[in-house]
Amino acid sequence: MRELVREHIKALVPYQSARSEFDGKADVYLDANENPYDFTFNRYPDPYQRKLKKRLADIRGWNVKQLFLGNGSDEIIDLLIRTYCEPHKDAILTCKPGFSMYQVSAGICQVRSDEFELTADFEIDVESFIKAIKPEHKLIFICSPNNPTGNVIPNSTISQIVKAAPGLVIVDEAYVDFTEHGSCMKEVNDRKLVVLQTFSKSFGSAGIRLGVGIMDEEIVSFLNVVKLPYNVSESTQQHAIQLLNNYEKVIDSVLTIKKERDRVSDQLEEIAVVLHVFPSDANFLLVKFNDAKEMYAYLMNNGVIVRDRSKLLHCDGCLRITIGLPKENDRLISLLKTFGE
Ligand SMILES: Cc1ncc(COP(=O)(O)O)c(C=O)c1O
Repeated sequence: MRELVREHIKALVPYQSARSEFDGKADVYLDANENPYDFTFNRYPDPYQRKLKKRLADIRGWNVKQLFLGNGSDEIIDLLIRTYCEPHKDAILTCKPGFSMYQVSAGICQVRSDEFELTADFEIDVESFIKAIKPEHKLIFICSPNNPTGNVIPNSTISQIVKAAPGLVIVDEAYVDFTEHGSCMKEVNDRKLVVLQTFSKSFGSAGIRLGVGIMDEEIVSFLNVVKLPYNVSESTQQHAIQLLNNYEKVIDSVLTIKKERDRVSDQLEEIAVVLHVFPSDANFLLVKFNDAKEMYAYLMNNGVIVRDRSKLLHCDGCLRITIGLPKENDRLISLLKTFGE
């Protein structure tokens, strides 16, 4: 596994911050050139977010040593690419249609990204996928439930891909709490597997920027070398701990969103202008219309913003619609019912 890491990263000596050297409780802190007066956040945060990781590990049943937290999962995606992929030499493999950030991050690092086309039902044809894997694919990204299609990639598929992969397989589970299938970690157990989750979706905290990576301890140690010293702010750590102390509220909201998703899906299917509602295991629906552009503009002119995904492979005429509050969903439904009147 160590051999997968870029040579110069293996040799890096990490920046030693004042707070990474001392992790106990002291009476007097004169080590970090902070302002001693209490402005709420006058102290640097814990660079390894130990308290938050412990709380998260307890609640989710994870091994605390296998956790890496980032400034959103976006940061973890970027760090993985910078740690494992040599520009102009290594590459990543992603699925199409899918979440575009993997490619954007790779592009910034001058790392090639290859795209594997999903079937018209948004499935991975596993035999063809395995044939598409090349030795330079240091990182393979699978998004499940997939954005923007909403479907889950079966664990058996992920297992086979992990077995065939020359490097790490990153399963992006940003929407995992909205599916009955749960995390792939229940069935797939391999040192090459990295799972990403986030506080931006089910935890209702996109604004605090907190992403969670669950991975082999050795991968955690390399990401710790590459990350900025204080990548997760004190306000974020405190907010997340508070949220975990009220975890039932998170669970309740997820249940409500799932019920709403099913209600909205059923109602949309009855509306004349809706050609198809794809099944979803996430907190959004991919909905097909005759003319996505026209529908997007109509909704926008009536104060409702959705995402036009019609240019993506197999997504002709499709808008991606996030499940909102019941009254917001009702407004969407009523606008679609009265389209053209
Ligand atoms: C599949 C997927 N992964 C990751 C993210 C980004 O998550 P974060 O807000 O934690 O950076 C998103 C955001 O839309 C997403 O859809």
